[in-house]
Amino acid sequence: MTAATPATLLTIFGATGDLARRMLLPSLYSLQAEGLLPAGLRILGSARSALDRAGFAALVEASVCERIPAGERDPTALRGLLERLEYQPASADDAAAMAALAARVQALRSGDVLYHMSTAPKFYGPACQALAAHGVAGPGTRVMLEKPIGKDLASATAINDAVARAFDEDRIYRVDHYLGKEGVQNLIALRFGNALFEPLWNARHIEQVQITVGETVGVEGRGDYYDEAGAARDMLQNHLLQLLCLVAMEPPARFEPTAVRNEKIKVLRSLRAIDAGNVAAESVAGQYTAGAIDGVAVPGYAEELGRPSRTETFVALRALVDNWRWSGVPFYLRTGKRLAARSTEIFIQFRKVPYSIFGGRAAADMRPNGLLIRLQPEERIELQLMSKTPGLDRSGLRLSQVALDLDFHQEFRNARRRIAYERLYLDALEGNGTLFVRRDEVEAAWAWVDAILEGWRQQGEPPRPYPAGTWGPAAAISLIERHGHSWHE
Ligand code: BG6
Repeated sequence: MTAATPATLLTIFGATGDLARRMLLPSLYSLQAEGLLPAGLRILGSARSALDRAGFAALVEASVCERIPAGERDPTALRGLLERLEYQPASADDAAAMAALAARVQALRSGDVLYHMSTAPKFYGPACQALAAHGVAGPGTRVMLEKPIGKDLASATAINDAVARAFDEDRIYRVDHYLGKEGVQNLIALRFGNALFEPLWNARHIEQVQITVGETVGVEGRGDYYDEAGAARDMLQNHLLQLLCLVAMEPPARFEPTAVRNEKIKVLRSLRAIDAGNVAAESVAGQYTAGAIDGVAVPGYAEELGRPSRTETFVALRALVDNWRWSGVPFYLRTGKRLAARSTEIFIQFRKVPYSIFGGRAAADMRPNGLLIRLQPEERIELQLMSKTPGLDRSGLRLSQVALDLDFHQEFRNARRRIAYERLYLDALEGNGTLFVRRDEVEAAWAWVDAILEGWRQQGEPPRPYPAGTWGPAAAISLIERHGHSWHE
């Protein structure tokens, strides 16, 4: 393994695509504006479109202008970004075009190269192998792979095998953009930067954990992809399980790639299987029907898609992490499209006090402590405590639940909201893989999700309907209430 040095060339495959225009190119602009791109870095865009350099520069400029308000845009920074650009049309299934691309890479690089695959995953293997065949995938090069890596364990393994023939594992950066979010890194800071939580962070003191990723959007014109995927493949296999890993993992010895990933994989391997035997009791799949989001009527999933479908747009489940730290603590996970609110949060409910010294009404007021970590839409951490209700009540103390509330946008008022890809690009350009996902993690996550999908298939029932604008099917409420808990809302 040779130590990575800052990339001298970033080559983006799929550089004209939706992800590039919405996230990648504006992120590069922000890094440029903050002086964080390596000096001399060239950016080579590549896609099928027969653009030239000027055409690509126009696309980059339009993407930046669309995302970054005029008042916040720095013309010098934008010019600086545009000056770095190059463009080379290519497609992984066109050998001559890949040869020309590789020659271009060779000509433009003056040191390390970072490739970013932002295309359909079926092209990852062929593209990487073409790069290797032309001698531009060796030491000093690395590759970022977008999700989804496959649609099940078998296809993920095939993609990983194909990429591994060209790049060593420590040069492969699998993206889960949730790991690039400030709030997600803050979860790591909260757990491992404070002495307060660790002694309580286990089954003796924690009653239950909830991870919710609610979206109000529908399938946003991605019906073909989404209908093949569904919520379990699109969100659970990656974002939710990564959040679960960060909540549940043991403290890594260092905040560096191998140490962090070694702890995450142990969590994934400790997940109790949900399969045909228990899938009906432990999980709920749903699909939205017509409803309203913020008072605006929206169509159902099948209408949006234009045909009936059995794809789930919602999943809720009860996961168990079978190890000493978490034995018996349910991790309730749920995610869905067209839910009541856009909200990503982790809620940790502690056990109740072992004994209440308060009689009468105060005893009835008692609530267990809770820690709410809000990641979206705003970043907030709230610690829920019991406090005396002010007053001179003769019949004894009254208690109320109050919140110690840390709102990051109040606290760090000058900090700009960042796109997750700013962090991810910065790290990948500099060769730091801590916030990327290792092969064994992706495959362990698929193995676990595959069993659920196979369980649903054997069960043979369609997903349960829920009206758009609600928190999913009623069965998701009974799933958690059966165990004496309720969703934090
Ligand atoms: C993507 C999914 O990975 O994450 C999308 O494919 C989803 O379906 C998106 O909408 C959610 O990301 P964010 O950053 O908006 O929470």
